[in-house]
Amino acid sequence: MKVVLGSGAYHMAEEVKMKASKYSKEVLDVEIKRFPDGEKYVRILGEGKEAVVVQSTFNPQDEHLIELLLLGDALKEKGFEHLKAVVPYLAYSRQDRVTKEGEPISVRAVMKALGIYYDELYVFDIHNPKTLEYFPGRAVNLSPARAIAEYFREKLGEGLVLAPDKGALARAKAVAELLNLEFSYFEKKRISPTEVQMTPVEVDVSGKNVLIVDDIISTGGTMVKAANILREMGAGKIFVVATHGVFAEGAIERVSKAVDELAVTNTIPTPVSKISLVEDILRL
Ligand code: R5P
Repeated sequence: MKVVLGSGAYHMAEEVKMKASKYSKEVLDVEIKRFPDGEKYVRILGEGKEAVVVQSTFNPQDEHLIELLLLGDALKEKGFEHLKAVVPYLAYSRQDRVTKEGEPISVRAVMKALGIYYDELYVFDIHNPKTLEYFPGRAVNLSPARAIAEYFREKLGEGLVLAPDKGALARAKAVAELLNLEFSYFEKKRISPTEVQMTPVEVDVSGKNVLIVDDIISTGGTMVKAANILREMGAGKIFVVATHGVFAEGAIERVSKAVDELAVTNTIPTPVSKISLVEDILRL
């Protein structure tokens, strides 16, 4: 099986090249450059029948998406018969419904376009797993729980795992079960139009190390609020982790100041993308 790395996976390239043979994979040479007018150019420099194309579609999202389509077209043109797209962070996945008349369901447009070339699609922790139904082939939502659990196993010790809200409980549960630890979530109660109260449900956090698990950190507001509450309740060390570090300006600093450690996976390259999903990708 050949592995093709788009520019949205260059931050994983060294590790992929080092570990590919362990998973019976071979990294294919690809030329990716830009025409003088700004358009992308890709060229596949190798042969094969099956390929896994790894391309995360973080900012610049549109450029990464176009490259993914061009790679699909080039591979099919070259005679590849079966293509898997691994898109660790899928752009537009949060635009999954029409909120104002006249809008698109953006994630559907992206899924359908990818389906022109790719037979299988793999993403990590997508915003709304139901949207994978828009992809015409096999589409799988992968969990980063194993990698997150391994990263925090020693640091957390006999601690507990929390989700910032009930909707994220399954994520915390998956990590906690791998570590054999207790898990729970923060209950959110609106106490005024501008204030939301957050309380961890049915767990005693005092003196315990806590890991808060979410899918995305954007402004960092959710994590900072949760961490401050845990401090007031006498928690031990506070660690926060998310699959996708979609950090707004200043968010890394804000969250880092409020907690003992902030880490995200490498679906998006950031200064705190300390948890690698490369082995999960190479297993596909
Ligand atoms: C919400 O549905 C998500 O799971 C995250 O909790 C949210 O996107 C985090 O946003 P922020 O970092 O801006 O609080």
